[in-house]
Amino acid sequence: MEKEYEKRNIEIEKEIKKDLEKIVTLNDLVVTKAKYLGKNGCITELTKNMKDLSPEEKALTGRFATEIRNIANTLFMEKETKLKEEALNKKLQEETIDITLPSCKIKKGSIHPFNKIVTEIEDLFVSMGYDVLDGPELETDEYCFQRLNIPLGHPVRDTQDSFYVDVDYLLRTQTSSVQARTMEANKEKGPIRMICPGKTYRRDDDATHSHQFGQFEGLVIDEHITLADLKGTLEVMARKLLGEKTNVRFRPSYFPFTEPSVEVDVSCFKCNGKGCSLCKNTGWIELLGAGMVHPNVLKSNGYDPNKYTGFAFGTGIDRLAMMKYNIPDIRLMYTNDIRFLKQFDRKELK
Ligand code: DAH
Repeated sequence: MEKEYEKRNIEIEKEIKKDLEKIVTLNDLVVTKAKYLGKNGCITELTKNMKDLSPEEKALTGRFATEIRNIANTLFMEKETKLKEEALNKKLQEETIDITLPSCKIKKGSIHPFNKIVTEIEDLFVSMGYDVLDGPELETDEYCFQRLNIPLGHPVRDTQDSFYVDVDYLLRTQTSSVQARTMEANKEKGPIRMICPGKTYRRDDDATHSHQFGQFEGLVIDEHITLADLKGTLEVMARKLLGEKTNVRFRPSYFPFTEPSVEVDVSCFKCNGKGCSLCKNTGWIELLGAGMVHPNVLKSNGYDPNKYTGFAFGTGIDRLAMMKYNIPDIRLMYTNDIRFLKQFDRKELK
């Protein structure tokens, strides 16, 4: 009897295994599982007529039925795990992203040549202990001219064609206005060391002049400041900005807010002074205006000219950028043409 039960279990197991081999989907598995273990499955059937059996047969049938049920459950579970694993692997494979594909290029901006020069100037002067200051662009006649020794009706006003908003206010024509503001704001009337880069405006419009342009001003006030300090400072500036071999020369000039006043030239950094188109064959390039702060300017902004002296200088930022980067037309600096700006790649401008 027992042998027969054993044989039958082996047969069923074989049959299950054979069926399982053919199964490829989870759905098929459910159907096949029902064939053996479902309500009317052949393994379930084994214990259907237990009540009619003798106690020994009952025990035997029960034992062998449980045995084959366990075997069947294990086989179906194993197959289910395998099918699920296969399905998952297939899905993962289908959804693989080819990370070797070239990505789309991200457009990187570049630093505007104007800002590049300003950053260089600021870094240099901060390293020498200067403050970087700001002033209003809509300025009063008083700060833009009168406090700088340019009273109403002074002929020098003719050289700065201005945008007046009303009789008192104008768009500042020069950053020199910040000189007056800084001296006035310094309550202790002590030493000053500052630069102030910013926007300035004049009624100009051609290849080398724009209605808007940038200037930066430098101002140093202390006891015993001399023209030699100015020369040394400008030499350092010219060499750092334009190259270590740059020479500086002073020519006498006139500005109402400085006495003496000088025009400062630098040796041409393109041809090293030999003569080229940039320096118009003179070997020198006009860089900036400067001088010793006029006693009237010190006085009108609350400083005692008997105690303090100082120097000041001012220049156009666009001009510097145009010379340094060979830019032929100042208007290119303000028209935001991507083709122009793209040329100033981050690396190139290092
Ligand atoms: N403000 C002058 C201009 O716009 C430039 C200048 C000259 C500034 C001499 C100065 C200076 O501080 O001392 O032309």
